[in-house]
Amino acid sequence: MNENTNGRTVALVTGANKGIGYEIAAGLGTLGWQVGVGARDAQRREDAVRTLRARGVDAFGVPLDVTDDDSATAAAELLTERFGRLDVLVNNAAVAGGWRQEPTTADLAGIRQVMETNVLGVIRVTNAVLPLLRRSAAPRIVNMSSGVGSLTLQSDPEAFTGPTSAAYGPSKTFLNAVTVQYAKELSDTDILVNLACPGYCATDLNDHRGTRTPTQGATIAIRLATLPADGPSGQFFNEDGPLPW
Ligand SMILES: NC(=O)c1ccc[n+]([C@@H]2O[C@H](COP(=O)([O-])OP(=O)(O)OC[C@H]3O[C@@H](n4cnc5c(N)ncnc54)[C@H](OP(=O)(O)O)[C@@H]3O)[C@@H](O)[C@H]2O)c1
Repeated sequence: MNENTNGRTVALVTGANKGIGYEIAAGLGTLGWQVGVGARDAQRREDAVRTLRARGVDAFGVPLDVTDDDSATAAAELLTERFGRLDVLVNNAAVAGGWRQEPTTADLAGIRQVMETNVLGVIRVTNAVLPLLRRSAAPRIVNMSSGVGSLTLQSDPEAFTGPTSAAYGPSKTFLNAVTVQYAKELSDTDILVNLACPGYCATDLNDHRGTRTPTQGATIAIRLATLPADGPSGQFFNEDGPLPW
């Protein structure tokens, strides 16, 4: 469990206005944490903060477009002014980029946008708040990945890996790879950084075709956000355990 001597745990969840991110925020809130709802749209952010607060969560809004450098800097400044540190970052925001993504006919601009959000967005936000995480007694980073980012599963004809995808799946493969590099660089710190696959959940991302609930999808992220000091780093998990790369 993440505990700090100087006050209650502070978390930031990106893309927390709906879907799995919203339920991660709700779950962390039930632990008594203060939860920043990172969201790019003011109305959607305020609505989420309001409904989370109605559920008893100590939620606060953090304006954040993960594709925008200035927005990430401003989010870090907000956290600095309000708390002086950040304990847990959940990089959850992502886009699918539509579901017509055959590599042979792929739209390069579409691939670029997915990478900008799902990969560079994670790097951008992580690096913006890293000085704040370094001030935490038990810093944790959870990057929301997906089984579709697993090259092992993608190469297994028996595994369910979703539609052919030149952008979304590879963006999660890239995210997995870069997360391993974060773990490597941060191995001499207290920061634990891991990847969570929520399973196939019914959200806007897949037009609600998923078979699990967003609340179920949030479970593994919450577990990785609350790892003890001797927990893993640079690993890839779903609710049942480690996933193949
Ligand atoms: N659903 C699944 O079956 C599934 C499976 C495996 C992994 N995942 C992963 O789980 C995470 C959550 O997915 P979800 O299914 O909950 O998707 P979702 O319902 O579509 O929610 C995505 C969230 O990301 C936000 N977002 C997108 N672009 C953003 C940007 N540039 N800046 C800030 N926020 C941005 C969205 O905000 P707006 O409302 O403003 O668009 C929304 O809050 C993602 O990383 C996804 O890849 C999902």
